[in-house]
Amino acid sequence: MMPGEDLSGLSFFPIQLQSLRVETVLPFPIFLRHASSGQYILYRSKNTSFTQDILQQLIDNRIEEIYVPRSERDEFFEYASREIRHVVRDPDMDSRQKAEVVYSTTTRIMEDLFATPRASRRLRQAKMAIHYSVEFILYDEKATRNLLKLTSHDYYTYTHSVNVTIYALALARRVYSGELDRHNFKLLAEGFLLHDLGKSVIPASIINHPGKLNETQWNLMRQHPEIGRKILEETHQNNEVLDAIVYQHHERIDGKGYPRQISRTEIHPYARLCALADVFDAITTVRSYREPLTTFEALKTMKDTMGDHFDWDYFNEFVKLFREDSDSADPADPVS
Ligand SMILES: [Fe+2]
Ligand SMILES: [Fe+2]
Repeated sequence: MMPGEDLSGLSFFPIQLQSLRVETVLPFPIFLRHASSGQYILYRSKNTSFTQDILQQLIDNRIEEIYVPRSERDEFFEYASREIRHVVRDPDMDSRQKAEVVYSTTTRIMEDLFATPRASRRLRQAKMAIHYSVEFILYDEKATRNLLKLTSHDYYTYTHSVNVTIYALALARRVYSGELDRHNFKLLAEGFLLHDLGKSVIPASIINHPGKLNETQWNLMRQHPEIGRKILEETHQNNEVLDAIVYQHHERIDGKGYPRQISRTEIHPYARLCALADVFDAITTVRSYREPLTTFEALKTMKDTMGDHFDWDYFNEFVKLFREDSDSADPADPVS
């Protein structure tokens, strides 16, 4: 493969410039896209060093997005999930940039994971990426705020998974603020990220179905907590925390959830945290058949119409998450 070779027959995916670390060897080639022709041009071959000079050259040319062939995605994900650790610890990178890398890398790994849910390699990479994101959320004060601003409102199971992780982790950090060391946040994050893993085997036509599902579709949809649990078991990834979140996140405080209709304290506290974040993200997201709710409308709707669904104490803490974020918070307070 020579630089400049026309490879328009290959398919590519975009990555952000910030996800490449200077002085690392890139185990995948990188391509640029020609602005007018749309053609992809080889910029650096596989296994070459990414140097400060190359970075500067790209910055000088105002290039923010570069491309990697889909056939090299394993190599890219392995690299990205490993390097996210250095990104979150980089003293020269600001919190906003870190949040972008964390969000985009995790989302892309999840997108791929949902396409191949039983690939234990991808599961491991998703876990690795989210572990360093946890470090970022717990120790960088601005991290949560920046991540909350980034949450994308498109409805895809993988963006939803990343959004739910951000909301639920931020909530857990508040709820457990006096006892952070008593909870394994890395494991918690894995659970939140994988809570809908079972949806990966449900046909997209049902997942993206506009409006109400018929009974057969709904019965299938309701199986996703059990399917998720099974995938974790089959891939030897299951443990008590993941199981609680994946299997119980649709249970309700009033006992009218699924799959087991357990209620109140029978529901694991981590699953109760996840349930709040899950519904909040679902109703603030664009769907083909309805407008998304704003943060204020969503919190108000949850308070007014879903009072029996959630843990009330957790809900009050959840609201505060947005109140503290003065830049994006709605001025009114739905719980006052
Ligand atoms: Fe779910
Ligand atoms: Fe969900």
